[in-house]
Amino acid sequence: APAGAGDGFGFAFKELKRGVDRTHHVADGYDADVLIRWGDPLFDDSPDFDPYKQTADSQLKQFGYNCDYTAFFPLPQGSDKADHGLLWVNHEYTQAEMMFPGLVPEGQDRYDHAHITREMAEVEMAAHSGSIVEVKRGTDGKWTYVKGGRFNRRINALNTRMTLTGPAAGHRRVKTSDDPDGRTVIGMLNNCAGGFTPWGTVLSGEENIDGYFMGTIDQNHPEQRNHDRMTVPSAWTAWGRHFDRFDVNKEPMEANRYGWIVEIDPYDPSSTPRKLTALGRFKHEGAGVTVNKDGRVVVYMGDDQRFEHVYRFVSKGRYNPDDRKANMTLLDEGTLSVARYDADGTLTWLPLIHGQGPLTAANGFNDQGDVVICARIAATLLGATRMDRPEDVEVNPVTGIVYVMLTNNDDRLPDLPHHSPLSTVNAANPRPANSWGHIVEMLPPDGDHTADSFKWEILVKAGNPADPATGATFNKATTEDGWFSCPDNCAFDHRGRLWIGTDQGTKWQRTSGYADGVWALETQGSLRGTARLFFRVPVGAELTGPTFTPDDQTLFVAVQHPGSDGVGDYTKSGARGGSFADPGTRWPDFKEDMPPRPSVVAITRKGGGVLGV
Ligand code: FEO
Ligand code: CA
Ligand code: CA
Ligand code: CA
Repeated sequence: APAGAGDGFGFAFKELKRGVDRTHHVADGYDADVLIRWGDPLFDDSPDFDPYKQTADSQLKQFGYNCDYTAFFPLPQGSDKADHGLLWVNHEYTQAEMMFPGLVPEGQDRYDHAHITREMAEVEMAAHSGSIVEVKRGTDGKWTYVKGGRFNRRINALNTRMTLTGPAAGHRRVKTSDDPDGRTVIGMLNNCAGGFTPWGTVLSGEENIDGYFMGTIDQNHPEQRNHDRMTVPSAWTAWGRHFDRFDVNKEPMEANRYGWIVEIDPYDPSSTPRKLTALGRFKHEGAGVTVNKDGRVVVYMGDDQRFEHVYRFVSKGRYNPDDRKANMTLLDEGTLSVARYDADGTLTWLPLIHGQGPLTAANGFNDQGDVVICARIAATLLGATRMDRPEDVEVNPVTGIVYVMLTNNDDRLPDLPHHSPLSTVNAANPRPANSWGHIVEMLPPDGDHTADSFKWEILVKAGNPADPATGATFNKATTEDGWFSCPDNCAFDHRGRLWIGTDQGTKWQRTSGYADGVWALETQGSLRGTARLFFRVPVGAELTGPTFTPDDQTLFVAVQHPGSDGVGDYTKSGARGGSFADPGTRWPDFKEDMPPRPSVVAITRKGGGVLGV
C-alpha cells in the first residue's frame, strides 16, 4: 500500500438499503436534490419546456437529453472555488420513444423510423453532445443553476462546428461532400464519459457512433473492414432518412469523423471544440488524465464494447502551468498505446505507430491517419488483450494507481462458435460468462505513467457474493447492500477515495435485481474490496457522471434514462400528438403530463461538510 494509505482510506456513512422504486434515495444524513433536467431553459430567451411542442430551436436553448459525464470548473477560472463554477454535462443519446408523445403506436412495442419527421430528427440532434451551465451553491447549502449565465452554452449535433486535429485532420478518409478539406465536423455523438485537464478543458468521449448511421455499404468498399469493426451502420436513429451524411451509402467517410475524444474550453463560449485524432478512434468511454512527473500529459481510455481494448496516450510536449495557450495543443501530438495484460501480472503498453511491427501498408496502414482511424484493428494486430467492455479508466490522485472499470461480458461462452476465438478467457478477464463486471488496477513503476511496462491486478470481481455461481470477490466486510454489479463510471474524491457508478442495463433484474447507484469502494488496507451503498437511482435509470467539487462537499451525478432499462411500457401511449405513457416512473416531476426526465442531481451533507467522513 502507498505511504499514508493506512488501513483503508476510510468511508464513514450509514449505508443505504438497496432497493428499486420510482425515485432516488441517498444515505441518511445527506440530501440529493435535482439540479437541472432535460428541457430546462439555459438562456434568457429560452422557452420553458413543453414536451408537446418541441422544436429544434427550443431544444437548442434548453438542457439536452440523457445527461452523462459531468465535470466542475471553478469560477473564477484558475481558482479552487467550490461553491461557484461551470458544470460540463455530456448528452449521450436520445430516445425518441421517451421524448415524443404517442410515438409508439397502440399495441406495439417500438416505433417506426418512418414516423420520425425531419423536425423530430433535428430535435434529437439538438438534444445531443453537451451543455455548459453556470452553477452556484447558496448560503442554504443548496445548488441552483444560473439561467442566462454568461458561459452557458449548448454544444450539439445540429449546428456546432468542430475542428479535427492530429494525424487524421485533412486525411483522405475524413473528406465528405460537405467538407472536402476533411477538417470541420458538425457536432459530436454519443458522448458518454470524459475527463478534464489541469488547464481547464473538458475531454468528452464519443462512444456508440455506429447507431447514428444507416444504409448499406458495398461489401467491396475500402471502408468495409473499418466500418465492420466499428459496427457501422447500426441504424438506431432515423437521421439518415433526412440527412445524407448519416447514410453510409451516400457518405461512406462521414462515420470516420466520429468516435474521437473531443476537447472543449468551457471558459470561452465562442471556442471551437476540437476532435483529438491523435488519441485514436474507437467507442470511447472516458478519458482519465494525469500529468506525469516529467510534465508529459497521460490520458487513459477505455473502448466500451465486448472484447475491445484499454488505451493510453502520452503527449510529446510538457504541461506548463503558466502557458494555457500552449497546453491547448498538447493532446495533438504524442504516442497512443494499447494494453496487453499477461498472466504473470505484467502489463505491456504496445505503441500504435505507423511503420512499426504490423502497422504497414501491407495491412492497410499507409500513414498514421490510417492507424488512428482504425485504432481497433491496429490494436488487435499488435496483440492487445481483449477485455470485458472497458468503461471508465481513472487515476487515483493520491496514489497514482490507475483503475479500469470492466462492466460485463457474457459472451465468452465456448458454446457460441461465432464468438470463437474471442470466447476464451484470459488472466485479466477470467470469467467466461461475466454478467457482473470487475475492476482492474494498473500500477505504474515508481509512479511513471509513461513507462512501457506496468503491473496489474484485479481489485474486485463484482456480483452477489452470496451466490457462489457469480465468483464475486468483495471483502467479507461488505454487507448485503454493499455489493454491486456492472461498474461503469467512477470518480475519486480529493482524498483518493473511490466511488463507483453502476450500469446494469436492461438485464438488471438478473444481475442484481435492484437499482443502479453509487457505491463507495475501499482500495487499501484490510478493508480493500469493501463496498458500501451511498445512493441509488429510480427504476430503469443508470448512474453516470459522478464528479466531486474541489472541497469534496458536493457530489454531482447524472441520472440517465429513468424509466427506461427493462421497465419501459411505451405501448400504452396514445395516438401521435397524444400523451406520454407511464413507463414505471415519471421521475423527477411525477406529473401526469410529463415523461420521465434525465437530470443532474447534487448530493450534499445535511448541514454541510465533506461527504463520507
Ligand atoms: Fe455509454 Fe460505456 O457507456
Ligand atoms: Ca448510457
Ligand atoms: Ca458509461
Ligand atoms: Ca455502460
